[in-house]
Amino acid sequence: MTATNVTFKVFRFDPEKDTEGRYQDYTLAVAPGETILNCVNRIKWEQDQTLAHRFSCGSAICGSCAMKINGHATLVCKTQAMDKVKDGVIRIDPIGNLKPLRDLVVDLTPFWKSFEKVEPWLAPDAHSAPEKERLQTPEQFAKIDNSTTCIMCAACFSDCNVLEVDKRYYGPATLAKAHRFIFDSRDARTEARLRKVTEETGVWDCTHCGECSTRCPTETKPLARINEIRQAAMKAGMHDTSGARHVLGFRETVGKRGLLDENYVPIRSVGFFNLAGLLSLAPVGLRMLARGKNPPFIPHSIEKAGEVRAIFAKREELNK
Ligand code: FES
Repeated sequence: MTATNVTFKVFRFDPEKDTEGRYQDYTLAVAPGETILNCVNRIKWEQDQTLAHRFSCGSAICGSCAMKINGHATLVCKTQAMDKVKDGVIRIDPIGNLKPLRDLVVDLTPFWKSFEKVEPWLAPDAHSAPEKERLQTPEQFAKIDNSTTCIMCAACFSDCNVLEVDKRYYGPATLAKAHRFIFDSRDARTEARLRKVTEETGVWDCTHCGECSTRCPTETKPLARINEIRQAAMKAGMHDTSGARHVLGFRETVGKRGLLDENYVPIRSVGFFNLAGLLSLAPVGLRMLARGKNPPFIPHSIEKAGEVRAIFAKREELNK
C-alpha cells in the first residue's frame, strides 16, 4: 500500500501570542486506511509538540475529537484522511460556534450549559416506585433508540446555522437530549418538558437547514428528533406559541386554500391580538417596502399547490 503526501493546513492559535488565528502547513505521508485523528496525532508526536487537540477513545464513542475538516464538523477518529484530500490538501479547524482556547481546542462551556435548560435526567413518578427496576418494552425503547445514541461531540452545535446568529437557541444536541426524556415511557414530566422546549428559542426556532443531521456521526439525527418534538407538542394541543401558530397559518393558507398569503402568515404567527408582537413586525415590513421586497398584498397561487394540499389532506386523514 503506497502512502501519499498530503498537506495539512491546521488552524493555530496561542492566546498568549496571537491576537487571531492563523494556519500552519504540515506534510505527512498518509497511508490508505489512516484516520484524520491518526494524522493529527502524528503531526503532534513527530513534527510539532506544541499543537493542541482533544481526543480520547479513538473509536467514535467518547465524542471528544470533533473538528472541522474542509469547513464541516466531523469526528476525526471516524474519518478516513484520503477521503478528504482536495488538491493535495486537508484543512483542519476547531469546531464552530464555540471560542477556540488554543489551536483545535475550544471552550465547550456554552455547549454544556445548554443542556441545563432541559434537565437531562429521568424524572419518574415518585409515587409509583417499582420494587425493582422500571421496565420498558422494546416498542417503548424504540421511541428513544435514536436519541440515546448521542455522544455529545458537538458536531451539530458547531455547524448549526441558527446558533451562528442566535446564541440563545437551545441547539440541536440539547433538543435531541430533551427528546430522549420527552419520549421516555418512564418519565413523568412529559408535558412540562414539551412546554419548555416549545418556548421561544426552542424547537420552533430550527430553520430545517439539516446541517445538524448531516454532521451527526451517530443515529441521533437531531433534525428528525426536533420534528418529532414539534409533532408531539401540536398533538398535545400546545398551539399557543409563535411556531405552532406559524404552522397553523401555513396550513390554513397553503394547505386548505392552495394560496400563499405572505402577509397573513406572519400576523397569524405573532397572534391577531398581540399588539406588541404586531408592532414589532412593522420595522421589518417598512424595510421590505422601502427595498421593494414586500410580498404581494393579494394571496397568490403556488406552483404544484394541488400536490401540497394533497400532502396536508393525507396527513389529516392519518391523524384521524
Ligand atoms: Fe473518542 Fe473520536 S476520539 S470519539
